[in-house]
Amino acid sequence: MIVSKPVLFSAVQPSGNLTIGNYIGTMRHWSILQNNYDCFYCIADLHSLTVQKKNIDLKKSILDTLSFYLACGVDPKKSIIFIQSHVYQHTQLNWVLNCFSQFSELLRMTQFKAKRNIKNNYIKKTSVGLFNYPILMASDILLYQTNFVPVGRDQKQHIELTRDIANYFNSIYGNIFELPEPLINQYGSKIMSLLEPNKKMSKSDNNQNNVIFLLDDMNSIILKIKNAVTDSQIPAKIYYNKEQKPGISNLLEILSTVTNKEISVLSKELDGMLYSEFKNIVSDCLCKFLFKLQQSYYCYRNDESYLNKIILEGATQAQLKSQKVLSEVYYKLGLVPFF
Ligand code: TYM
Repeated sequence: MIVSKPVLFSAVQPSGNLTIGNYIGTMRHWSILQNNYDCFYCIADLHSLTVQKKNIDLKKSILDTLSFYLACGVDPKKSIIFIQSHVYQHTQLNWVLNCFSQFSELLRMTQFKAKRNIKNNYIKKTSVGLFNYPILMASDILLYQTNFVPVGRDQKQHIELTRDIANYFNSIYGNIFELPEPLINQYGSKIMSLLEPNKKMSKSDNNQNNVIFLLDDMNSIILKIKNAVTDSQIPAKIYYNKEQKPGISNLLEILSTVTNKEISVLSKELDGMLYSEFKNIVSDCLCKFLFKLQQSYYCYRNDESYLNKIILEGATQAQLKSQKVLSEVYYKLGLVPFF
């Protein structure tokens, strides 16, 4: 008897250079997860259209993102890696789910409210795509009968909405969709900005000094960590407390990831150290870690024919899987099958 593994889906928007936040919040887990789950790792290019940036080369950004998936250890023999726009089933289900989503619920989405204010300033300039974004995300997830979605904490509300939409559809048409659960780690699920540690680190931040990009050169990493905001506690003490010591806690979360050491272990090792010494350790370990990741990234990035092969195979497999669910949805809705 073939026992199928639980299904796992995750994605990143190729809307700019990836950050250490993307890595720590989700991508670092992907290579381990692919051993125990049927994994779908998607490049959410259509989501990127919701924030239109004049200077972004989307094609380049998509291939950059794919190369990072591979550099993070995602294996195309174990996982299905694909580009969202190559699998038209996503936008087809998106339309259906639009009709089963509540306007009032979408208005509550904190990410929509935040992006609307920052990016556009005026409500009249807010695109419908930005509003609709969580429904496209729900389509991504539900199309594969996903059980688990590894994400950073900022996406939790979108997964809850996905469950609400699925529940509503299921209540009318029977148990069509699996209800997905978010996989969110206790530590590292919300890496904060370096200069404003009460704000999430984001690839779209206007101030580049707030962000460690995965492709940053070593000198800028050293400088950015050196300038990272800490606190003025006297005497200085290094321990984890997100409310009282957001800057130090953020650096501890980064250090814990790149050294693979528990935060409790690090806090003991760093006890009594000056903040400046602590920062030197963080930048040293981070540089070593990112240097290795970048080397692997460039190997993949320089081989576009290999990348194109993965994209083609991934799209074919993802189309096959997702068409089954889409056909079932169409059937339940009473649409006439197309032969
Ligand atoms: P995106 O591209 O904004 O972020 C990709 C992933 O990185 C996580 N993340 C963070 N984690 C910790 N700290 C941070 N500072 C940080 N910044 C980002 C995000 O939580 C996310 O897991 N809508 C999604 C992409 C998407 C998706 C999906 C995700 C499209 N469809 C279906 C899961 C399932 C997004 O814009 O992520």
